[in-house]
Amino acid sequence: MTETEVATRHDPAAPPRRLRVLSGMQPTGRMHLGNYLGALRNWVGLQDHYDCVFFVADYHSLTIALDPGSIRPAIQDMVLDWLAAGIDPERSTVYLQSLLPEVTELHLLLSMATPLGWLERVPSYKEKAEQFPENINYGLLGYPVLQAADILLPRADRVPVGEDQAPHIELTREIARRFNSRFGQVFPEPQGLFTEMPRVMGTDGLTKMSKSRGNTIGMLDSPEQIRRTVMTMVTDVERPRRSDPGHPEHCNVCGLHRFFSPDRFEEIWQGEREARTGCVEVKRGLAEAIARYFAPMRERRAELESNPDTVWEVLAAGAERARGWARETLAMAREACGLPPAGRHR
Ligand code: TRP
Repeated sequence: MTETEVATRHDPAAPPRRLRVLSGMQPTGRMHLGNYLGALRNWVGLQDHYDCVFFVADYHSLTIALDPGSIRPAIQDMVLDWLAAGIDPERSTVYLQSLLPEVTELHLLLSMATPLGWLERVPSYKEKAEQFPENINYGLLGYPVLQAADILLPRADRVPVGEDQAPHIELTREIARRFNSRFGQVFPEPQGLFTEMPRVMGTDGLTKMSKSRGNTIGMLDSPEQIRRTVMTMVTDVERPRRSDPGHPEHCNVCGLHRFFSPDRFEEIWQGEREARTGCVEVKRGLAEAIARYFAPMRERRAELESNPDTVWEVLAAGAERARGWARETLAMAREACGLPPAGRHR
């Protein structure tokens, strides 16, 4: 990770600056193993090497119809898990997108540099339009422009996301380029940070773990709940009888052991291959390993839960900190477009 740690210095005498990383998640409530292994764990580690910005994309969540009453609890639950997992608001800037409404002004300015055709071709737009034909709204089409504003407002250098977000990062770069060439050099072009991340399958063993499919294992569920969920997991379908040899490389439970039982998984895999162990045993072991792995975070979450205001204080303080660079970037963008200064200097 060293290559990307320090930004290029225009002034050789200036102290080295850490590269700025930004990423966000829609408020989906409590985190599951897919969220943790696919993103959150990586975020926590990035804090050692980058100037990190993590935010809750609540405006984005409004692009599809959901119960307004569910948003705040989902934000609180998600951020409690972030903090419990080790996202550190002292080191990183952690905020709620809608507490930084400057992002909406940048979204508007960027929209002037975004051809409609680009947006109509975005895969996530086409998917959502197909999924919810009764609610193809303007915000949905503009989703990637708002995401570009999220990224360009803090002038982020790197954006750690899964492969599914690659088209959004590419579009952000194109919007930045188009804005710069039309109005003048304002935005650096960010790069995606596509770390090798396991694709975590759901308890059905067939599809990616996701809340909408109801196939998740909650990362900070109680050990009892974890055991109950893990015991329902679909295992090796090519092993009809206990006495048949297993295929751990095709078994989702064995796959998760690889991560949660790092120094035992080879032995577990071998036991399966030789039919020395059965699926029930291997599942029981996995449930224990998962519960053990998350025990310290579960404790930390319980402490944090005793004062839920903490989440909202963290999110507001982060937005306040972000406002500094938000105003700077907006001032540059307004100037480039020929608008007068906003006159809200503090
Ligand atoms: N679209 C992202 C997702 O669904 C969330 C998101 C919004 C985001 N703005 C962002 C991610 C900016 C990275 C950077 O996962």
